[in-house]
Amino acid sequence: MGSTQDEVEVSYGVSNDFFKLWLDERMNYTCALFEDTENFSDNFEQAQDNKLRRLSRFANIGPHTESVLDIGCGWGANIEYQALVNKVPDVHGFTLSPEQAKKCQERNLPNTTATCDDYKTYQPPRKFDAIMSICMMEHIVSPEDARSGKAIELYRDYFRRAHEWSKPGTYFGLQTITRCQVPRNKKDLDDLRHATYVIFPGAVTPRVEDIIVATIPYFEVMEMHSMRFHYRKTCEHWLTRLQKHEALIREKWGSEVFEDYDRYLSTCITAFENNWQSLHQYSLKRLD
Ligand SMILES: C[S@@+](CC[C@H](N)C(=O)[O-])C[C@H]1O[C@@H](n2cnc3c(N)ncnc32)[C@H](O)[C@@H]1O
Repeated sequence: MGSTQDEVEVSYGVSNDFFKLWLDERMNYTCALFEDTENFSDNFEQAQDNKLRRLSRFANIGPHTESVLDIGCGWGANIEYQALVNKVPDVHGFTLSPEQAKKCQERNLPNTTATCDDYKTYQPPRKFDAIMSICMMEHIVSPEDARSGKAIELYRDYFRRAHEWSKPGTYFGLQTITRCQVPRNKKDLDDLRHATYVIFPGAVTPRVEDIIVATIPYFEVMEMHSMRFHYRKTCEHWLTRLQKHEALIREKWGSEVFEDYDRYLSTCITAFENNWQSLHQYSLKRLD
């Protein structure tokens, strides 16, 4: 049933300081949105805010929004954006990683709470006006679940919960990596296997068609964007920053950590370039 807490710890528990070295200021660990789609020249911090701005629109967040839930909130980039930029009066985020939840709490954001919770057991204290989830769906289905045909059923259960946690008429701003074509040569397959089993154990990226099918009968797809070149550029930024800190990373967290992340980010650049993986954003509206 997707990544366990121990597996999530492998993915996000190296150290908050390690990720801080190569992510943007808000610590988004997900694809940015570049307005310059020819040269992808936007400033990286701005591109990350562009992503949060568009997903806010997809979740229909505005002055009327009283509460927003961020499922799989990471180190708190989006809850910070909702509290400080959109000024939503009641923001809640949860993550399965205790270290990430601690980091979110340390931000001391106004009108914001963050907890360590599993979406499979989360009990919301109230229904939300808007739902957001940025690249958490990749953890819902394990490679074994996908092989045994359980993917759609597990995604549908996730959408059922989001429906249950929200008010009638709610919009859901969703972003996920998606699995597309399969490479043909052994080195590329080995690199993808490394990213899947070493960096993100227990997780497999969804197929876009499975997500669309699984939204029924809970949500309607209102708008969708396909953005693999934006993720290629995001990974190039992350890799450049990681390599800039190579000596420090080797010294503080060991050479294996540096080499694993160097290999994984390089693999991602090739994977997005070749359409082995893509990135999709969706605006979903609750079916009532
Ligand atoms: C790739 S990170 C994205 C974090 C954040 N949304 C961002 O944009 O930076 C995936 C997030 O999903 C969370 N996650 C994975 N499995 C989860 C589960 N079962 N319940 C809640 N959160 C989960 C992880 O803890 C992590 O915070």
